[in-house]
Amino acid sequence: MVHVKLKNNQELIIREAEKDDAEELIISVKKIADETTFLTFEADEFTLTKTEEEKIIAESHASDNRIFLLAILNDKIVGFIKVDANQKKRCKHLASFGIGVLKEHWNKGIAKHLIQEMLKWAKGTQILRKINLGVQSNNLAGIHLYKKMGFQEEGTERRGALIYGEFYDVILMGLLID
Ligand SMILES: CC(C)(COP(=O)(O)OP(=O)(O)OC[C@H]1O[C@@H](n2cnc3c(N)ncnc32)[C@H](O)[C@@H]1OP(=O)(O)O)[C@@H](O)C(=O)NCCC(=O)NCCS
Repeated sequence: MVHVKLKNNQELIIREAEKDDAEELIISVKKIADETTFLTFEADEFTLTKTEEEKIIAESHASDNRIFLLAILNDKIVGFIKVDANQKKRCKHLASFGIGVLKEHWNKGIAKHLIQEMLKWAKGTQILRKINLGVQSNNLAGIHLYKKMGFQEEGTERRGALIYGEFYDVILMGLLID
C-alpha cells in the first residue's frame, strides 16, 4: 500500500484489490464505463458477479505477472489498473492493462500514480519485460498520459473500435521494462 499526494493535495491510497472490494469495485467500474466511450466495453456489458470478481482478484494475487491495483480516495474506490499477462513461456514477459478513473476525479493525477505503481511492481517481477496497451485515437488525455509515462507509439490498429456506429483507430503503444 502506498500513500501519494494528488495535484490538489488530497491523499490517495494505492493498494492491491482484495476480495472484500469486489462489490464496490463492480459498481465503480460500471460507473466509469457509463461515463466514457474509451473503454473496450459498455456499462451494460460489464456483467461480472461478485463471486466472479472475487475470483479475478484472487487470481491476480496468485499470479506472478498480473496485478489489480485500486486507487482509494476518502475510503472510496475511485480508479483501478488491471494488468493481464499471458502464462505461456514465450509470452510471459508481455502484459497489457486496462485503467479507469471516475470522471469527477479526472485530471488530479490519479492515473499517473496508478501507472507509476504498476511500473514499479512490473520491474520487481523480474518476469515482465514489456507492457503493451491500446488507446483510441480520440482519447487525447490517455495518449498524453501514456507518452508522459514513457510509452511509445508502435502502430495503429485501423478501425480498432466501433463506437455508436463510428469507427476509431486504436493506437498501439508499448514500454520496455529493463
Ligand atoms: C484516461 C484516464 C484513465 C486518465 O485518468 P486521470 O486520473 O484523469 O489521469 P491523470 O490526471 O493522471 O492525467 C491526465 C492527463 O491528461 C491531460 N489531459 C486531459 N485532457 C486532455 C486533452 N483533451 N488533451 C491532452 N491532454 C489532456 C491532463 O492535463 C493530464 O496531464 P498532465 O498531468 O500532464 O497535465 C481517465 O481519463 C479515464 O478513466 N478515462 C476513461 C477510461 C479510459 O480512457 N481508460 C483508458 C483506456 S486506454
